[in-house]
Amino acid sequence: MQSTDFAQRRERLFDKMENGIAVIGSNIFMQRSNDTDFPFRQNSNFRYLTGINEPDCVLILSKKADEQKVFLFIRPNNELEEMWMGKRMGLEKSKDLIGADKTFPISDFNKEMEDLLPGHKNLYVHFHERADLFTNLQKICGDLFNKKRKNTAQPPQAILNVGQLIEELRYIKDQNEILTMKKAMVATNNAHRAAMALTAPGRSEKEVNALIEYIFTKGDGQGNAYDNIVAGGNNANILHYIENNQALNDGELLLIDAGCQLNNYATDITRTFPINGKFTGAQKAVYEIVLDSQKAAISHSWPDRNAPDMHKTTCKVLTQGLIDLKVLSGSLEENLEKGTCRKYFPHGTGHWLGLDVHDQNPYLDSNDEPMKFEPGVIFTVEPGLYFPKEDATLPEELRGIGIRIEDNILITETGHENLSAMIPKEVKEIEEACEKDYRDFLD
Ligand code: GLY
Ligand code: MN
Ligand code: MN
Repeated sequence: MQSTDFAQRRERLFDKMENGIAVIGSNIFMQRSNDTDFPFRQNSNFRYLTGINEPDCVLILSKKADEQKVFLFIRPNNELEEMWMGKRMGLEKSKDLIGADKTFPISDFNKEMEDLLPGHKNLYVHFHERADLFTNLQKICGDLFNKKRKNTAQPPQAILNVGQLIEELRYIKDQNEILTMKKAMVATNNAHRAAMALTAPGRSEKEVNALIEYIFTKGDGQGNAYDNIVAGGNNANILHYIENNQALNDGELLLIDAGCQLNNYATDITRTFPINGKFTGAQKAVYEIVLDSQKAAISHSWPDRNAPDMHKTTCKVLTQGLIDLKVLSGSLEENLEKGTCRKYFPHGTGHWLGLDVHDQNPYLDSNDEPMKFEPGVIFTVEPGLYFPKEDATLPEELRGIGIRIEDNILITETGHENLSAMIPKEVKEIEEACEKDYRDFLD
């Protein structure tokens, strides 16, 4: 990405703003335990607008009737701190990089904001990120009002959500973003294939997880885009199972939901396959239903269509499948009316994908209508069926089976591109992938 790309994004944000001042915080270090922090991960909106990957920054966009200005608060260079904690960009380099009108040390934030806030009608802040920044700004505005300075510009009178405006911009991915996600998918493909090859009775979720992490990290990848789910047998029925520490048993399935992150962009892929390499009859029957529902949902991926319609299609195929499996009784129409499949498919068909794994793009437009798919939009399609071992109402052969299949879909001018089409998904492809040698994916 060029710095001009980030400048263009800021221009587009300026276009969406009325007279006002936008305050967009980077992330800050989060403590893990004494003297130890969690790995730093940049705030997605801040990253989208600056490309800067440092903590303790604040981007300011100031829009008045006759001028637009960009300011940046950032940590200054400090030899001692940089010796302990790594290099910093500092005030000058960051000013040049993003073409800011001025940069300030982050320690001067309160003092400088007293001068920057007055003269703007609106204060744009993120409503649910960096609550500390929001509270701080309210206090600074309150103090400015209390000073009742005569003949000076007033601080902002209204608070608006800058998050919504940035997230609207992030809805359509540009060519660089698409290329980055495609590149991340190379490692995701390798990791899923290696996992299929390594998995066998006697191996453990831990070993498979370690192999995935290795492949996500060794090349260009930054590691995982979210906590991997490596769920053997009945563990697949815990939707967000992340313990990943149990033995893998013969005759059971392994569900892996894992995606590589690259340049902070996520991939989000799920495959489910037999631990011993061959599906049983019951496993295959459930797998084919989930696969059919996923294909039907993907066939909805066209410009002008929308996610709720896609979800209805998924539910229809899954509900018919549940009737065929004798899990549900009654007619398809009755079951669809009552939404009975929800017990076995308790989540949505998918979500937007980008800088965040659950990308922060709007689901409804300004008329509260579902967002339409448009070229450049990327989302997941991830139906599943979950039959907990403990559910005695289920046919016995289905208990303990949990299956999800998740692909990442890009909307194009003429339809869609499945970004994860290369990762085995058909029963035959999966059984073949399970026979391979995992070492072939390590180079
Ligand atoms: N991996 C999280 C999800 O599929 O939504
Ligand atoms: Mn997932
Ligand atoms: Mn997902």
